[in-house]
Amino acid sequence: MPEPGSPPARRSPPAVRALRWEGGSLVVLDQRQLPGATVHRTLGHLPEVAEAIRTLTVRGAPTIGVAAAYGMVLGQRVDGLGVDEAARLLRETRPTAHDLFVGIAEVERAWREGKDTLEAAAAYERRLVEECHAIGEAGAPLVGQGARVLTHCNAGALATVAWGTALAPIRVAFRSGRDPFVWVDETRPLLQGSRLTAWELREEGIRHAVIADNAAGYFLGRGEVDLVIVGADRITRSGDFANKVGTYEKAVLARENGVPFYVAAPWSTFDASLTRGDEIPVEERSGDEVRNFAGIATAPEGSPVRNPAFDLTPHRFVRGFITPDGVLAPEEIEERLKAQRPLHP
Ligand code: MRU
Repeated sequence: MPEPGSPPARRSPPAVRALRWEGGSLVVLDQRQLPGATVHRTLGHLPEVAEAIRTLTVRGAPTIGVAAAYGMVLGQRVDGLGVDEAARLLRETRPTAHDLFVGIAEVERAWREGKDTLEAAAAYERRLVEECHAIGEAGAPLVGQGARVLTHCNAGALATVAWGTALAPIRVAFRSGRDPFVWVDETRPLLQGSRLTAWELREEGIRHAVIADNAAGYFLGRGEVDLVIVGADRITRSGDFANKVGTYEKAVLARENGVPFYVAAPWSTFDASLTRGDEIPVEERSGDEVRNFAGIATAPEGSPVRNPAFDLTPHRFVRGFITPDGVLAPEEIEERLKAQRPLHP
């Protein structure tokens, strides 16, 4: 682990990588076991990839998209599935992350056109990694010397294969010697902040402190946060977006305290087919994630539970979207999406 003050070279990618294609299988870092154990799993069949996505063994919208792209390859080459069946099994895993549907569609297109599906999946992965590095370069000027950045959930290398979205500008600022500091929301109920974001930051030697979700308002109110950067699971053309539950309240708190709030995302997270946030399908996960933690009851067994995995933040709370092509105001998104090849199935 590099010591703080001796950052790696500006372009050198983080040591953490969420997955790689190796020997005809998808090898993923099991994110359920972090930070306690670094365990890799080899997935050789499409149903195993689908299960890994469903159980959050691999997670984070962009990583899910790449995993699903390789899942399609396995469905064709190993499982002998038809293209419709393969795409359906993967689409059913998690409904909110737009990148999932883009990753599937990229390989589906190659499959239907008789092209090399593995090359399509690998090209999709390469493009995502390049886009995330570009997000880092575009957002780094927002992270000044010693800037204190609040983030929610994990929008780092684990969530995007490499670099991250919200963490990419922080990484590039760190590599430029600007010594940023990160407030890490723990992110109940599955603790992606304290388990995963803090682990990634420690691996790189970036200064940080983990806080209980409920403490964010306290530090924002004391003037100890300079900016907020989060990732997203789906962004509509108005700029309304879905991200890990708890994001909306952080955006409201940031506005109340005059702290700029940014959303970092690759183009695969933008859904040009939707306008308003309430059109985004929000995944509701098992109540057991709230009722128990690590085998210990955290609510009475009979108590009903609601467990939305994401919430919706209106675009009026967003100062800017950090994209691979620069920082855009919410009102610039629609025009920008029109100029692109459509990235939706
Ligand atoms: O349920 P998860 O852990 O997959 O949720 C992840 C998030 O909400 C991330 O913030 C989002 O996917 C952006 S990751 C670059």
